[in-house]
Amino acid sequence: MIDSNIKMTRRSFLGTVGTLTSAMLLAPRRLPAKESRLLLRPIPSSGERLPVMGMGTSRTFDVQGDSAAMGQLAQVLATFFDNGGRLIDSSPMYGSAESVVGKLLGLERGKSRLFAATKVWTDGRTDGIAQMERSMQRLGVDVIDLMQIHNLRDWETHLPVLGEWKQKGRIRYIGITTSHGRDHEALAKILQTETLDFVQFSYNIADRTADERLLPLAADHGVAVLINRPFQRGSLFKKTQGQGLPAWSAEFDCHSWAQFFLKFIIAHPDVTCVIPATSKVKHMVDNMAAGVGRLPDADLRRRMVAHVASL
Ligand SMILES: NC(=O)c1ccc[n+]([C@@H]2O[C@H](COP(=O)([O-])OP(=O)(O)OC[C@H]3O[C@@H](n4cnc5c(N)ncnc54)[C@H](OP(=O)(O)O)[C@@H]3O)[C@@H](O)[C@H]2O)c1
Repeated sequence: MIDSNIKMTRRSFLGTVGTLTSAMLLAPRRLPAKESRLLLRPIPSSGERLPVMGMGTSRTFDVQGDSAAMGQLAQVLATFFDNGGRLIDSSPMYGSAESVVGKLLGLERGKSRLFAATKVWTDGRTDGIAQMERSMQRLGVDVIDLMQIHNLRDWETHLPVLGEWKQKGRIRYIGITTSHGRDHEALAKILQTETLDFVQFSYNIADRTADERLLPLAADHGVAVLINRPFQRGSLFKKTQGQGLPAWSAEFDCHSWAQFFLKFIIAHPDVTCVIPATSKVKHMVDNMAAGVGRLPDADLRRRMVAHVASL
């Protein structure tokens, strides 16, 4: 449920953002009807089905006080919901991102479909609880759908608290995250010994370390998988700049390099949801299209890896 302190309407907010260009407002926000069926994947611990395309907020939503950027992100968020998106991933580590998401959600008609994912990123039980309370206020929600322990930080302290909050109904799912290869061994141990609903780590066409242990382990233990850094923080596009897509990418309904990278990830059967971050409406439209249509099979995925390595 959305915080009643957020009283601005979408119209009045956009009215204050004088720098929104007409091109931005006219940008196509919705995929053609026949394509707008996002693929869904079940969360193993509950069976609830989630769209494979989620959204990250690191850096892109850390824009408190910048009204032009807020106006642009209002459109990005509307495009995400209009195309069937639900899961938004944030963290207290991302500066003002949680507050910006909360403020923009107050204006967003798609907000009832929100699946709010954020993180606890501090040491100690008391500070962890205070931080989670703050995240709820900032996001303007009564229940956090997924609370994750960020980068394994003080996880042995936070995990029992998350269990208590889940029992009380303040959070619905428990997860843990990293984006560092050095954490993979510790994360593998946690997956084997603790009860989790979700795990989040990096996986992309250029960094496939998670193929070896984390993806199979998550599947064996019935844990949903969120994939961060699908574009290696954007650096994958440097490799493909000026390069056309191979003709065979049409075999899996792929029309851009972003879709090439995202479909590679989504096609892994053990991935539940991928969370690319963007500050642009046209990129959101592009990314959401990766979640519809055909996906590459195992042979095509191998071909995709070889092709990108050869560029
Ligand atoms: N330990 C953790 O828990 C952890 C660590 C890392 C990340 N995460 C989560 O994962 C999310 C994603 O990772 P990330 O933000 O580091 O990197 P990312 O999603 O791999 O890359 C984001 C970059 O890609 C660009 N981009 C997005 N869509 C594009 C498109 N269609 N065409 C061209 N460029 C595009 C964005 O620029 P534009 O703004 O110009 O589109 C941005 O610079 C984060 O936002 C965060 O929520 C979690």
